[in-house]
Amino acid sequence: MTTLSQIIAPGQPAVTAAGPGPATEPVLSLRDVRISDRVTDREIVHGVTFDLTPGKAVGIVGESGSGKTLTCRAALGILPAHFEVSGGSIEIAGTDIATLTSRQWTALRGATIGAVFQDPASYLNPSIRVGAQIAEVLRAKQGLKRRAARNRAVELLRAVRLRDPELVYGQYTYELSGGMLQRVLIAAAIAVEPRTLIADEATTALDVTVQAEILDLLAELRERTGLALVVVSHDLAVVAQLCDEVLVMKQGDVVEHGPTRAVLHDPQHAYTRLLIAEHNQYGLEKFLAPKEAS
Ligand SMILES: Nc1ncnc2c1ncn2[C@@H]1O[C@H](COP(=O)(O)OP(=O)(O)OP(=O)(O)O)[C@@H](O)[C@H]1O
Ligand SMILES: [Mg+2]
Repeated sequence: MTTLSQIIAPGQPAVTAAGPGPATEPVLSLRDVRISDRVTDREIVHGVTFDLTPGKAVGIVGESGSGKTLTCRAALGILPAHFEVSGGSIEIAGTDIATLTSRQWTALRGATIGAVFQDPASYLNPSIRVGAQIAEVLRAKQGLKRRAARNRAVELLRAVRLRDPELVYGQYTYELSGGMLQRVLIAAAIAVEPRTLIADEATTALDVTVQAEILDLLAELRERTGLALVVVSHDLAVVAQLCDEVLVMKQGDVVEHGPTRAVLHDPQHAYTRLLIAEHNQYGLEKFLAPKEAS
């Protein structure tokens, strides 16, 4: 089970202290990353390569089981127990994470990379007020005093556009909607000011309107703070809305990779064409459904 502190890593200004590189230096760089199941010795992800620079967004789409989540987990250093990166390299702000001790990795990860997933509730403790959980992250990872941590947590809840941040601070997970919980998780993820945020199906469980609001929020954070995004989604529309570049995965292979506009308008691979056709058909069905009902 992944805990909040695993996806919201300790905030030690490891990278910024060393001096941020030029704006074009990748914050995250995957080179032919391969992931294998150690038990069966089977390679599941057969080489993923992309660079993410500040303020950019890379999308990963593809069928269920194609390795999107494993790729994200590899970048976060939280692969399930029996999986390993069996080839290639992952660099975070220019440092190959394979060369780090777990302590160095923890320190580096804090200021560099955070994540939100599909099931926000499972990363929060149901018996502690949500605001207090964010304040605790700030106290533990950034050394803020109690009052400063509380104030900053309220500020963060406001920054993710929760309407009444003071009220939400004192609420429990069961009192909040899915969209509100995802905002709380995003607030916690950006609390330690990571340069990259991985959103793995972060809006999939939400209804369409709330999904659009969360996507707007991610776009705004990206615009305002230069946050770089990795966006994993089944929904091509999500990727089209947010991402500069897209990777299409099928059975562990990247079958297509390019600027979003080019890939969606002029897909080169049959599987990408199929995804686009399915999306168009699905979109059309959604559009026709109310008419049939009336
Ligand atoms: N914890 C795990 N234990 C065993 N097998 C796993 C685990 N996580 C992933 N796998 C296997 O690895 C492969 C890739 O899984 P992954 O979760 O990366 O797919 P995905 O592209 O994210 O799919 P989805 O769109 O359904 O989220 C799948 O075949 C899956 O069965
Ligand atoms: Mg997944």
